[in-house]
Amino acid sequence: VSAAGACPIEGAGRFSTFDVLGVEEPFPILRELAPHCSSAWSEAMGGFWYLTRYEDILEALRRPDVFSSEATFLPRTKHPVFGPEIPIHIDRPAHTEYRRIIAPHFAPQAVAAMEAPIRANARELLAPMIAAGGGEFVAAFAEPFPAASFLPLLGLDRADLDELITLLDEILLTAQLGPSEDDSRERRRDTAMRSLRDRINAILDARDLMSDPPEDIVTGLLRSRFADRPLSRDEILRMIRLFFAAGLDTIKHTLSMSMWFLATHPDHRRQLIEDPSSIPGATEELLRYFSTVTSYARLVTRDIEFAGAPMKAGDMVLLPIIAANRDAGRFAEPDVVDFARMPNPQLGYGAGPHRCAGSHLARLELRVALEEIHRLMPSYAMASGFEPVRTGGQVSGIPELPIVIGSPSAV
Ligand code: HEM
Repeated sequence: VSAAGACPIEGAGRFSTFDVLGVEEPFPILRELAPHCSSAWSEAMGGFWYLTRYEDILEALRRPDVFSSEATFLPRTKHPVFGPEIPIHIDRPAHTEYRRIIAPHFAPQAVAAMEAPIRANARELLAPMIAAGGGEFVAAFAEPFPAASFLPLLGLDRADLDELITLLDEILLTAQLGPSEDDSRERRRDTAMRSLRDRINAILDARDLMSDPPEDIVTGLLRSRFADRPLSRDEILRMIRLFFAAGLDTIKHTLSMSMWFLATHPDHRRQLIEDPSSIPGATEELLRYFSTVTSYARLVTRDIEFAGAPMKAGDMVLLPIIAANRDAGRFAEPDVVDFARMPNPQLGYGAGPHRCAGSHLARLELRVALEEIHRLMPSYAMASGFEPVRTGGQVSGIPELPIVIGSPSAV
């Protein structure tokens, strides 16, 4: 373990991503530190360095030779059940080859073809909430919408949705709440992961028997070659496992926080209703402001002095995207939500070789969701007396959001 960092701010040495977040306030310690120290050491979560400024965080994301993706979560754990996920836990050169394999499935053209079914999902999920005059937005929309939009690409149908969402909630238990003292969360997570692995294996077995398989991601992966050999079953499992982890909760919580913001900031909401062409800029700015993926971690590969920290090979370092996205050195008035912010070099989708492979799909889903919400139910408000809480962890958001639709107090 490295020597403690020399950053003399109270609490810096105990910072953890599982600390409670204010809904709009990034981890307060990061804000307090930034003007004084570009890095600090924390004893929490197994011990790690963390950076506080945009330029350093961006540079670290772009230097995979020094900052390996072999370990991206804190506390550092072996990758249970599935092994390292592909391509997120893989370094170059294999990473480059895996990205080449998955890229066509998430390219702008491939994603554009999904717009119509995604829009139909949005309408279908909003209808019962609108008919009822409101409801709990996360369970009714934010959670099932990305699942309904993405799972068909993996050969899963709507009948599987509820079961898969429950599995996913179990799988993400430790990522959201942190490790448990009695291992109970870890056991539930691993049981759910084994069930997910069985489900994916069943999909792959069924494909082996089909003479005319559907043209989707699963078939594409089964036909792909890594350099001069086919992908193994194990590699395909580790890729699909990642799509579940990366593509669902991220959208769910970007939507939960965006919806809360729009419900409580009528002037911003009015812009989206009056000028729907402002929606793409709004989704980008809301992602900057909230940073659903608060941070990613890296493993230091060699001794290096970086952002003022004397890092040693084997140390973990946390790259808080949430701090980069509110850095006053990079963004004018970082705490103001400005849908017309231009340029907006926000790091919500990461940067460097591991930059989000699904960002075109994410942008499409977020745009379509906000378009349909503001077209079909433009007047909505939070249920009275609601106090939002935001979960910590590396993917964070508001777990429950009771809204009323068409109420007199709504816009
Ligand atoms: C608002 C929604 C989303 C956000 C904020 C987000 C954010 C991110 C971030 C920050 C990374 C970088 C991780 C790192 O550097 O270690 C990443 C990677 C990734 N994301 Fe997303 N993501 C979103 C949606 C999606 C969707 C819908 C998919 C589709 C399956 C997806 C697939 C991936 C994949 C495959 C990677 C790994 C890329 C690599 O390692 O080369 N993401 N995402």
